[in-house]
Parts: sequence; structure tokens; C-alpha cells
Amino acid sequence: MTKKPMIVAGVMSGTSADGINVALVTMNDSRQPRETKTRSRVNFQLIGHAEFAYPKKVRAAVLAAMNATRASVADLSRLNFLLGELYADAILATQSQLRIKADLIGCHGQTLYHQGETARFLGRKLTTTWQTGEPAIVAARVGAPVVSDFRPADLAAGGKGAPLVPFLDYLLFRDAHMGRIAQNIGGIANLTAIPAHASASQVIAFDTGPGNMVIDAVTDRLFRQPFDRGGRIAASGKVQANVIRKMLQREFFRKAPPKTAGREEFGREFVREFLRACGRCPKQYIVATATALTAKSIADAIQRYTTQDPTRKLRFHEMILSGGGAKNSTLVSMLTSELASLGLRLRFSDEFGLPSAAKEAVAFAVLAHETWHRRASNLPSATGATRPAILGKISYP
Ligand SMILES: Nc1ncnc2c1ncn2[C@@H]1O[C@H](COP(=O)(O)OP(=O)(O)O)[C@@H](O)[C@H]1O
Ligand SMILES: [Mg+2]
Repeated sequence: MTKKPMIVAGVMSGTSADGINVALVTMNDSRQPRETKTRSRVNFQLIGHAEFAYPKKVRAAVLAAMNATRASVADLSRLNFLLGELYADAILATQSQLRIKADLIGCHGQTLYHQGETARFLGRKLTTTWQTGEPAIVAARVGAPVVSDFRPADLAAGGKGAPLVPFLDYLLFRDAHMGRIAQNIGGIANLTAIPAHASASQVIAFDTGPGNMVIDAVTDRLFRQPFDRGGRIAASGKVQANVIRKMLQREFFRKAPPKTAGREEFGREFVREFLRACGRCPKQYIVATATALTAKSIADAIQRYTTQDPTRKLRFHEMILSGGGAKNSTLVSMLTSELASLGLRLRFSDEFGLPSAAKEAVAFAVLAHETWHRRASNLPSATGATRPAILGKISYP
């Protein structure tokens, strides 16, 4: 039975807190509800995408909420509804740019807190996650159902609630002959390693460490710019190899996957320690070193946790890069040379019809579409869940 194609909007705002990415996608679906077998190929076309920066004050409020050890409950409630309005504005603007209306929306929300590891709280062992941006507002303003809050169902199934994008990576990038690593560089950097001819259970996915988060933080602090556009500042500095060696000693990098990271790992405290390790070296050296830390930690993670596994005999041939970090030329050239020594070729997700900035938004359109059809879409091998789970909650207009 072939169903009518659905237009789905995917909305993503990541840990960089830079703003909102919206992708509009046509989903063709020929499967029955509750069919659980993962399709061999996902059948969709990207109609277009758009990016909306948060207004300066909103970004500051989002970052403050993420970093807060104490926060006002009233302000968090207000922020939830404010972000709902901003998401709705972003979707409406994208719809009018592309002259098409979404039948369904997948809205990831803004993560304020994520703890994928079990810890005790008031006598109970818990994992928790919190994405904000009120979906009822989005549904009402845009006039379409919204799937949101994707992560808790995976936590409830014993997973870490992240990463979720590997579901799309696996469908899009798996290849009969070529081992591929899909690498996204957002605030945090994460990879999905898909061996040649892999089944879903053979996919390895985890956060490799900082993406743009540390680069953004030091650029903001030392140059009063929200990010190092094009990697120009880093290009004029000299990498401090001793600092990189020191930072790579940290527990996160030495921990075997699955593992997830956020501002909890690479936020303020990490940056403070990084700056201390850099000592009195020139400002642009510090930005160069933060950039190299991202490149080096990615290469290191690949070497330690994917290619070096003797029992699996895994070989990878190419990396497919996405996320805002793909626009940082200095980072890209550092990564290219790190990868060359691992025998990996660097390609961009744009070459596969997925603009770097749109990939994660597309992923949440695809995940929302799965949920709408009551199909599970976590990848237990990626999140560590004990079973597949249908992700998210639905708000109706
Ligand atoms: N032109 C550019 N030059 C350098 N870095 C960029 C550029 N555009 C975006 N970035 C980086 O990408 C980040 C946003 O990436 P994104 O993939 O949206 O991350 P997230 O998913 O965490 O929001 C910015 O904070 C910035 O560091
Ligand atoms: Mg972003």
C-alpha cells in the first residue's frame, strides 16, 4: 500500500545555542504502521532548509539556563514558551520561503540538561534529560501536529537518550563495500561509524568530545565574537601540542563508548581549565589550540574506539562531515591531515544532497515521521538501550 507523501518539518537547535535550523522534507512511505523492520533505504527528498540565529538576548538566556547551578523556575517556564514562539516563527518563515506547508513537525527542542549516565538522586538511581521549547505553542501557531521530546523514551528503555541521528546516518550512508564515518561537528562532536555491509546492530556511535563549543567560548572571551568565522583567527595562531596532550588525558576521552557529552563536560569548567593550561600564550594561539583539540580528539576517538578493535576487523574508508564546524576551514584542514594518517578521506554531507547545516534538522523530520507511524527509531547499538523504542510525544493543533 502506498500512502500519500507527507511534508515534514524538522527543527533542530543544538548545544551551540546559536539558533534554529529548519528543514522541510517530503517523506514517501510505503510501510504499514507498527512495522518494525528498519527500511533498507529511507525514502525522502529535502525540499529546502533555513537557519535562524537566536536574538542575542535569547542566546544569552539559553546559555545561562544551560550553565545554571541555580535558576528561576518562572524564567525557565517563560523560556519554554518563548522558544515555542521562536520555533513557530522559524517554521512559518521557512514555509513561506519555500511556499509549502508542513503536515507534521519534528521539533527537538533546546537541551537544557542531559545526564545519560545513571546517578543517585534522592535515593533513586536515575538518568535524565530535558529539552525545552513548548510544542503545544508550535502546533497551535503552525497548525500541524508536533512530535517533540524524543529522548526520554530511549532513557526509559535503558539507553543514554543520545545519539539519535545515527538512525538517519545508517539509512543514508551505509554501503556494501565502504566503511563510513558520519561526523557531525555542532557544539559537541559526534560520530556514527558504519562498517561496510553493516547491520543496524553493528553501528558504533558516540560523542567524540568538543565540537565548536570550546572554540566558541574562547573566541567569545578573547575576541568578543560568538565564533571564529571561517577559522580565520585559528589560522593565524600556533597550536600548543602540550595543552592538547594534557586535555586529552581527561576521563571523558579515555572512556570507551557509548558515551555522550554536553555543556556538563565541555562548558565553563572545562574552558577554565583549558585556558589555565594555555597559560600566557598569545590569544590567537589559544583559538588555534582549541580548534586542534577538536580535530585531534575526533581522530583519537576513531583510532581508539573504531578502527583499532581487533575482534571486529573494521576498516573505514571515508568520513562524511556535517554541522556548523564544516564551515571552519582551519578545523577542516586540521581534520583532513589527521584523517590522512588514518587512511580516511574527508567528504561533506553536501555531496550526498544534505547541506551540512541541515542534516540534524532532517534527522528530526525523519524521526518524527517514524513516531507518527508508531515505529521505533532509536538505534539500541548507538544509545545503549535494551530495546527499540518509539520516540517522542505528540501535540495537536
Ligand atoms: N562560517 C562559519 N565559520 C566558522 N564556524 C562556523 C561558521 N558557521 C557556523 N560555525 C560554527 O558552528 C556552530 C553551530 O553549529 P551547529 O551545527 O548549528 O551546532 P549545534 O547543533 O550545536 O547548534 C557555531 O556556533 C560556530 O561555532
Ligand atoms: Mg545550531
